[in-house]
Amino acid sequence: MRVVAIDGPVGSGKSTVAKAVAERLDLPYMESGAMYRVAALAALRRGIDPEAEGAADALTELVAEVDMEVGDRVLLDGVDVTADLRSKQVGRAVSAVAAMPGVRSELVRRQREWAEEHGGGVIEGRDIGSVVFPDAELKVFLTASAGERARRRELDETADDLARRDLLDSTRAVSPLIVPQGAVVVDTTARPIDEVVDEIVAMLK
Ligand code: DC
Repeated sequence: MRVVAIDGPVGSGKSTVAKAVAERLDLPYMESGAMYRVAALAALRRGIDPEAEGAADALTELVAEVDMEVGDRVLLDGVDVTADLRSKQVGRAVSAVAAMPGVRSELVRRQREWAEEHGGGVIEGRDIGSVVFPDAELKVFLTASAGERARRRELDETADDLARRDLLDSTRAVSPLIVPQGAVVVDTTARPIDEVVDEIVAMLK
């Protein structure tokens, strides 16, 4: 099974680069963050405040019972929710949801299952090389300067929201965002996408 793991903080270029690498290698692409966003959306729709007491148990139960499909379109219980995943409410709730160990273990299980079913793929996230696929054929950790990351995301979230999410994602107790062991760190600041993609694809040959 051929797995390429691409991790990094918000705005590091993960999605754009991972999609292009997948296309070049003719491998399926998966955005694991979409699963965490679906979980956050499901919580908000059930009226569960992820920061409230007891929310972790309720959320762990909820993610185990919902049906989610992550691909070009993202489905929650068979309904296309792609357009709802980038809302400010989901953006604000998602880090708290992603910090819950019960939620993470279920979503990690689903990510591994996805890779089995697809015979591998290019998978992007925060813990793909460190936890989900520590034996991936290639692990890449993308970075970019704080200013550039904020600029890339400015239509979707404020610099404050981005900084808050980064802090929560990198300081949580379970599977925080770290540079995985054996990962190649690639700084995408002021670099054309094609050049970054070429560099990553060349590492596989
Ligand atoms: O990639 P993204 O910004 O859409 O991810 C949304 C959130 O999900 C992010 O703030 C942290 C969490 N996440 C995670 O904890 N682990 C992953 N593998 C992917 C995302």
